[in-house]
Amino acid sequence: MTLLLDGRAVSEKLRARIKEKVESFVRKGFRRPGLAVVLVGDDPASVVYVNNKRKACKKVGIESFFYHLPQDTPEGRLLSLIDELNKDERVDGILVQLPLPEQIDRLKVIEAIDPSKDVDGFHPQNMGLLVAQSEKGFIPCTPLGIDLLLRHYGIEVKGLNAVVVGAGFIVGRPLSLLLLWRNATPTVCHVYTKNLKEHTLKADLLVSATGVPGLIRGDMVKEGAVVVDVGISRVGGKIVGDVVFDEVAPKARAITPVPGGVGPMTVTALLLNTLKAYERHLSSTIKP
Ligand code: GUN
Repeated sequence: MTLLLDGRAVSEKLRARIKEKVESFVRKGFRRPGLAVVLVGDDPASVVYVNNKRKACKKVGIESFFYHLPQDTPEGRLLSLIDELNKDERVDGILVQLPLPEQIDRLKVIEAIDPSKDVDGFHPQNMGLLVAQSEKGFIPCTPLGIDLLLRHYGIEVKGLNAVVVGAGFIVGRPLSLLLLWRNATPTVCHVYTKNLKEHTLKADLLVSATGVPGLIRGDMVKEGAVVVDVGISRVGGKIVGDVVFDEVAPKARAITPVPGGVGPMTVTALLLNTLKAYERHLSSTIKP
């Protein structure tokens, strides 16, 4: 029987624990944790993601502060907002939803965020701490969510051949570093990779993060592999992943569904990173 990696159920459990922690701080008289969510423009997928994140915050007692800027916002305006948020003591985490409009340099924006508030883990300091395998940094939310999901089901990645399809800055790249941290043997495939199937067939753990619906077919997957689908695409009004689930699931030892797999775990990881930032900020401001 194939094990279904149920990100919704695992998230529910983890979020209940986050809520308990938050409420115990509040009962002791501390302020609530705060997350600033910045959206530039009206990309429909981004609007959905941002709303999900804000709803999730509310449910666990994290305050969210929403900044919705127009599509034609100049880079300088966004940078000055980040400067304000860096100084704002109610704000523990700053999330600038990606992608950004083309007039704005993504790296400049990420570098402007105070690394202690960079709950997305995209700042070069946090990326460096991921390479250094230091708990001091923030791990990007989707890789962290996948790590938590696999751990929850007792899936040990140490020693596995882990093939990551997609080398993007949000998922593929940081995930390959996290897998290396966890002592797997990662291979990263991307659009220029020759003969993708040759690589995927060797995977004990196969993660696809491309956004290409139906990319991973049954004949590309090894019998008994663990398959994690990060893709979220809308096809004919339906949300689908990168993996052809009906072909791949019978061969897999374990697989994530789409929706209800990695998606909720990404949001849960964001809540955890925000709580971590909050606890750090409290302990750096309270003098014994
Ligand atoms: N766009 C897609 N995924 C993410 C994410 O994890 N964080 C941010 N900031 N933007 C995204």
